[in-house]
Formats: sequence, C-alpha cells, structure tokens
Amino acid sequence: MEKSLLFVVGARPNFIKIAPICVALRKASNLSFKILHTGQHYDQLMSDIFFQELEIPAPDFHLNIGSAPHGVQTGQMMIEMEKLCDDHAFIGIVVIGDVNSTLAGAMVGAKRNIPVIHIESGLRSYNRSMPEEINRIATDHVSDLLFAPTQLAMQNLQKEGLAERSFFSGDVMYDMILQGLELASTRSDILNQLSLYPDDYFLATLHRPYNVDDPHQLRQIMTGLSNIGKQVLLSAHPRLHKQMKKFEIQAGENVKITQPFGYFDFIVLEKNALKIITDSGGIQKEAFFLQTPCVTLRPETEWVETVETRANILVKDRTAASILEAAFENTSPAFDQRPYGNGNASEIIVEKLIQDYL
Ligand code: UD1
Ligand code: UDP
Repeated sequence: MEKSLLFVVGARPNFIKIAPICVALRKASNLSFKILHTGQHYDQLMSDIFFQELEIPAPDFHLNIGSAPHGVQTGQMMIEMEKLCDDHAFIGIVVIGDVNSTLAGAMVGAKRNIPVIHIESGLRSYNRSMPEEINRIATDHVSDLLFAPTQLAMQNLQKEGLAERSFFSGDVMYDMILQGLELASTRSDILNQLSLYPDDYFLATLHRPYNVDDPHQLRQIMTGLSNIGKQVLLSAHPRLHKQMKKFEIQAGENVKITQPFGYFDFIVLEKNALKIITDSGGIQKEAFFLQTPCVTLRPETEWVETVETRANILVKDRTAASILEAAFENTSPAFDQRPYGNGNASEIIVEKLIQDYL
C-alpha cells in the first residue's frame, strides 16, 4: 500500500487554505498526499469553483456527506473516513481551520493512532456557544503537530499545555492573498461587470447562525445595511439566502444581493471596497491584508490582531443603529503591522511535513 498524507477539506474556507499548501508541496518534494472532500459544502459556487480557479488537485476521495445537524454531519464523516483508513496507509491526517470537517478528520486520526496535523491552530474566541470554538479546542487537543498562524495563537497553545507540539508558521491565507492578487489582476473584471468604482461601495457577507437564523436579528442587520446610503454588495452564503426567503426579509434598493463569488473576483471586490461588513472569520483577515477597513458583526473574534490594529471594529449588539455608526467610523488602522507572518506559512509547514513524514 502506498504511504501518503491525507488532507481533509470540506467547506469553502478549507479550499482557500489548502491551495497554497498544495502549491508548496508540489514545488518542494515528492511527498505523496491525497485529498479527501467531505462534501460539507457542495454547491458549485461554494466548492468546485475553488478547485478550478486555484488549481487544487481533484479530490481522491469524495464523501458527499452534505448538510445535516452537527452530530449527524460530523458522525457520518467519521464513519466514512474510518472505512477509508482500513484500505489505505495514511501516515498523517492534515486538517485545517475549525469547521465540522476539521473535527471529523482529527477525531478519526486520533482514534486510529494516525498522527494528526492541525493547520491554523491555537485560535480562541472564548465563546463556547460557537460550534467553531468547540471544533478548535477539540482538534488542537487531539492533534500531534500544531501550526499556529500568530504569536498569540502560540501563547494560547502554551497556556493549554500544547507548547511542545506547536510551531509558528504564519497564516496560509496571507500566502494565498499574495499569490491570488497577482493572478486576479488578469483573471477578474468584476468591477467593470458590476459597474462598481473603487471606494464607492460596501462589501458584505453574512452566514453565522446567530445572525441569520434569528429573524429579529437578521432584520436589524438588513435595516442597518439598507440605511447606509451607499451601494452595499452582499455576497449571499446559501445559509443567508435560505433564511431571507424563509423569513420573507427584504433589503433596501441599495443592497445588491448576489450569488457567492469566485476567489479572484471576491478579493478584487474586497480590495476596492470602501469598507467590508462581515461575520466571516477569514474575511476579517483578508480585509486586513488588503488594507480595507472592516466592520465585524460578532460579539467577539478569534482574530484579535485585526481589532488591536484598529483595522476591524466589532459590532457586538448588531443593531441597525450600531451597524450604521460603525460603517462610517474612521479608526486610522495600523495596516503596516505584520501579525500573520511573512507570506511563507505554506513553505514553513511543508518543510516540517517533509522533515517528519518523507
Ligand atoms: C460552515 C462552518 C463555519 C464556516 C462556514 C464557511 C461548521 C460548524 N460551520 O458553516 O464555521 O464559517 O461553513 O462558509 O462547520 N448550504 C447549501 N449549499 C452548500 C453548503 C451549505 O445550500 O454548498 C446550506 C444548507 O442549507 C446548510 C446551510 O447552508 O444547511 C449551512 O451549511 P453548513 O455547512 O452546515 O454550515 P455553514 O453555515 O456553511
Ligand atoms: N469568499 C469567496 N467568495 C465569496 C465570499 C467569500 O471566495 O463570495 C472567500 C473569501 O475570500 C475567504 C473565504 O471565502 O477566503 C471565507 O470563507 P467563509 O466566510 O465562508 O468562512 P469563514 O472564514 O467564516 O470560516
């Protein structure tokens, strides 16, 4: 049986994070790796488009699990992955981020005594009501090798007794943005297509259950966005799309609700927006990398450096009035700081993987 590493991915942010690692792996060695897609995200615009645009190798295994409550979704992933472990000689399971696919991969590896490698470890929001926080803590504690994107993440791991297994790598999303920006200049014409001008629109995304699954909360946010008095381009995650329909919530004429964008179009939209309004984890960081001020509709964030540098404002209560106020607040961000490494996180990770597993 061929020995290989197994990369487990399943949701949109996983695909973007694995892409630069695949590039670095192919450049550096012939360390064999396979990709498993759990099927947590499955719409073309939430999944396949990223494999095509970012030239991620097609998955070797596809579990097609789809949407389901947490226990069912994570459990089904584990059942199917465990079967695969019977038939293949995986020398390590690499998981990324904090989604249910991450947790499932980590749990299977740990139970099968296959070393687990967690990329983007040590993040803490200290809000245990978020499923992602549980996924982060559980994944970090069953992993054998932890790659932290920031020094603060390293400190968090140390506090939890995980220092010996932890390595500072920097953030793979920073690597991806640097590579993506260069390509986007020739591959995206989205501003022309949407007749948008730099610094003349807000870009928004929303998908956290506490923002979109509660009709009162979602109405507050839509009222805030509708009163902004400028164009708001809202890239609608399927979860938001579904809930807007279910609760029959409408937005003002200034709010243009679209399908999700591909990566290149989206980073061009992020870079040129006057501000970004979001509840996404990754988009808070991308706003920082692209020097676009960000407003985050969450009570707290695990990406605290974005707030400390004043690049990101948290709107904790998420009322229409607070959103409006934050949208026009000038915070003079310190964009010159570099808390997320040097854009070579993927190389650092791959070097260590080769050292340990080739
Ligand atoms: C998941 C992650 C979240 C991450 C987000 C990134 C967990 C617990 N949550 O949230 O951390 O920030 O992905 O986008 O892992 N749906 C579709 N088509 C798809 C995917 C989803 O229609 O391709 C709809 C389904 O109705 C589904 C809902 O969106 O029930 C939510 O999908 P799910 O993967 O459960 O959670 P996300 O909100 O996407
Ligand atoms: N993204 C994208 N198109 C969109 C919205 C987001 O390509 O229309 C990308 C974005 O650039 C970032 C990632 O999706 O790299 C963030 O994923 P998401 O917000 O779904 O998840 P989170 O980071 O909150 O887990």
